[in-house]
Amino acid sequence: MTQDALIQLQHVNKDYQMGDVTVHALRDMNLDIATGEFIVLLGPSGSGKTTTLNVIGGLDRPSSGVVRVAGADITAYNNKQLTQYRRQNVGFIFQFFNLIPTLTAGENVEFALALVQKDGRRLRDRARELLDMVGLVDRADHFPSQLSGGEQQRVAIARALANQPPVILCDEPTGNLDVETGQRVLQVMRDLSREHSTTVVLVTHNSAIAPMADRVVRLHSGGIADITLNETPAPVSELSW
Ligand SMILES: Nc1ncnc2c1ncn2[C@@H]1O[C@H](COP(=O)(O)OP(=O)(O)OP(=O)(O)O)[C@@H](O)[C@H]1O
Ligand SMILES: [Mg+2]
Repeated sequence: MTQDALIQLQHVNKDYQMGDVTVHALRDMNLDIATGEFIVLLGPSGSGKTTTLNVIGGLDRPSSGVVRVAGADITAYNNKQLTQYRRQNVGFIFQFFNLIPTLTAGENVEFALALVQKDGRRLRDRARELLDMVGLVDRADHFPSQLSGGEQQRVAIARALANQPPVILCDEPTGNLDVETGQRVLQVMRDLSREHSTTVVLVTHNSAIAPMADRVVRLHSGGIADITLNETPAPVSELSW
């Protein structure tokens, strides 16, 4: 595994200083993730799940330790290099959706695409295709305030997939979704990992999601409590929560 790991966390610590108190958000975390792997990071609130995604995605720097992606130590990158790394490699689906309130659903997706696609017509077609994938093509002209929480989340998912990033980092994607809609978005990500070798790291506190993963990494108090390999991941249609 170590040889062909796409993402490697080596002795990663993340501390936050809060006055006199140091919060250890991550403690000596070591983890290798292979290309095309679908990982579920499971753990209770405060266990370090979002912090792990943030250091993998270059949104946050570890206090110590190394994060390698495709062999490159991204902790050594300056801010400009990190921005470039994120733009080219990472699709984020945040725990809180971060849609741009003044743009419609369609425009939010187009905005992400516009970073690489300059042809206006293609841009609109591709945005529609992506919204269709998450079942929202009929909501393209709605502003975020005119969408339900679950619909906003699906727009955020379409946006994250826009540029076909090799790595998708996904924070509680099913938090606001009913089972049927949730299965649909999980299926999109599962298919990307199988068919396009997209590497997916999906964070949840919901253990019902875990059987669909290739590997389940359980976090506790900022460290890895255990890792389970699913030799035959369960079909998404069999999940329920
Ligand atoms: N900016 C920050 N400043 C100080 N402490 C922080 C900060 N961000 C996170 N923490 C602390 O680090 C720990 C891990 O936080 P993290 O957000 O990674 O948890 P989580 O597993 O994603 O939880 P949740 O399921 O509630 O989203 C928590 O104890 C949290 O209070
Ligand atoms: Mg979190």
